[in-house]
Amino acid sequence: MSSPLRIAIAGLGTVGGGALTILRNQAKLLEIRCGRPLQIVAVSASNKNKKRDIDLSGLHWVDDTASLADDPDIDIIVESIGGTDGIARTLVEKALANGKSVVTANKALIAHHGVALAELAEKTGAVLAFEAAVAGGIPIIKTLRDGLAANRFSRVIGILNGTCNYILTNMWETSRSFEEVLKEAQALGYAESEPSFDVDGIDTAHKISILTSLAYGCAPSIDNVYIEGIRRISLRDMKFADELGYTIKLLGIAVQTATGIQQRVHPCMVGKNSMLGTVQGVYNAVLVEGDFVGRVFLEGRGAGANPTGSSVVADIMDIARNVKYKPFTLPIASLPHENFVGINSLRCSYYLRLSVIDKSGVLAEVTNIFKKHSISLRSFLQHSHAPNETVQLVLTTHETEESRMLAAINEVAELDFMRDHPYMIRIENL
Ligand SMILES: NC(=O)c1ccc[n+]([C@@H]2O[C@H](COP(=O)([O-])OP(=O)(O)OC[C@H]3O[C@@H](n4cnc5c(N)ncnc54)[C@H](OP(=O)(O)O)[C@@H]3O)[C@@H](O)[C@H]2O)c1
Repeated sequence: MSSPLRIAIAGLGTVGGGALTILRNQAKLLEIRCGRPLQIVAVSASNKNKKRDIDLSGLHWVDDTASLADDPDIDIIVESIGGTDGIARTLVEKALANGKSVVTANKALIAHHGVALAELAEKTGAVLAFEAAVAGGIPIIKTLRDGLAANRFSRVIGILNGTCNYILTNMWETSRSFEEVLKEAQALGYAESEPSFDVDGIDTAHKISILTSLAYGCAPSIDNVYIEGIRRISLRDMKFADELGYTIKLLGIAVQTATGIQQRVHPCMVGKNSMLGTVQGVYNAVLVEGDFVGRVFLEGRGAGANPTGSSVVADIMDIARNVKYKPFTLPIASLPHENFVGINSLRCSYYLRLSVIDKSGVLAEVTNIFKKHSISLRSFLQHSHAPNETVQLVLTTHETEESRMLAAINEVAELDFMRDHPYMIRIENL
C-alpha cells in the first residue's frame, strides 16, 4: 500500500464538516479505491470551542489557519471557509505556491481569482480542484472537462442556486409572494439573512462563469455576465406562465453565438414539462448541448454537507490517484481572451405583461408599436374584468432581438393607458 495522502481541512462548517464525515465514514472504501489511505492530519476553523455536530476528537487542531500552507507534513488543503478574499485566498495562494494541491468549494474565489490561482498551481505542479463550487453534488466540472471533452458546446444551461429554486417552487406550490417565501426560507435556514447574493443572481453568475470557462476553454469572466435576480417575480406572472405552458426558473446560461460567448443569469420561462422545468425545490440541474454527444442532463442536490462533501472527496481522490489536469482545461498561457457578447445581441421569444386601463384601441396601439419594430406576436391573453378597471394584457412574441424588444417596450411604456412599467420575462426554448 502506498503512503497516505495527508489532508488538512480549513473550515469546518457545512462543506468542511461534510467532507470530514465522508473521509471518516468511508475511510476503508476510499483507501481501496485510491490505493492509499486518505488521512486527515489537521483541521482548522475560526473558533476551536464552538459546539459542532461533527466529532473532532483525535484530530490535530491548528489555530493559525494560514500556517497549514507551510506545514511540510500536509500534502493537500481543503479550503472550505469561503469568501472572495481574506483568509481563504491567502491560504489557497500560499498552499499552491508551496506546491500543495488545493480542493475548494469556493465559487466566488474561483470566479474572481481562478486564473491567477491556476497559474500558481501550474508553476508548482499542484492541483487546483473545485468540483463542489458549482452545483454541489453534481459532477458537472468533471463532466465538462473529462467526460464530454470531445465536444464543442452550443449551450450550457443550469439551475445553479437551490435557494432561488426553492423560493420559486414554493411561491407556486403555496400561492405566496416572493417576500413571504423568502422569510420562511430564512427561518428554515435555506436562505441567508442577507439573501442578495442568492436572490439577485450573483451566486449563479459565479457558477455560470466557471462553467463557461470549462465549456469554452477560457478564463472565467464574471464581469461579462448579464445578471438579473428573482425579486420581481410575482405569483401573477407564475399563473400566466402556467396558462401559457411554462414555469419560471432562474437560469445561468452560457451560449456560443456567431460573434462570441454570451453569459447571462435571469429568470426564464421554460416549458413546464421540460427537463429544467420539472426541477423542484432545492435541487440543481445542468443541461449541456454537445455537438457529438447531443444533450446531457444532470440533476441533483446543489448544496448541503453530504452532496458538497461528496464532490470535495471526489477531488481529493483524484489527487490521491495522481490524476493531473488543467483547472480550465488549457495551460494558462494558451487560454484565449474570449470574445464575450452582451445581452443586447440575444435572440429569443419574450413574455410581456402590461397593466393597462381597459378602453377601446389599447390592443391596436400596442400591436402597432410591435409591428413598427418588426416583432411578430405569437399569443395574447387577457382575463375578464370590470369595465374601466386596470387589466393585465399578456403577450408573447416569436424570436426577436433583445435590443429590438427593449426599444418596443420603452415605447409601449409611454402610452397613456399604461398603469405600470411593462414587465418582461425571456422565454428559453429547451
Ligand atoms: N453550504 C453549501 O451547501 C455550499 C455548497 C457549495 C459551495 N459552498 C461554498 O463552500 C464554502 C464554505 O461554505 P459553508 O457553507 O461550508 O460555510 P460555513 O458553514 O459558514 O463554514 C465556514 C467555516 O469557515 C470557518 N471560518 C470562517 N472564518 C474563518 C477564518 N477567518 N479562519 C478560519 N476559519 C474560518 C468557520 O469557522 P467556525 O466553524 O469556527 O465558525 C466555519 O467552520 C463557501 O465558499 C461556499 O460558497 C457551500
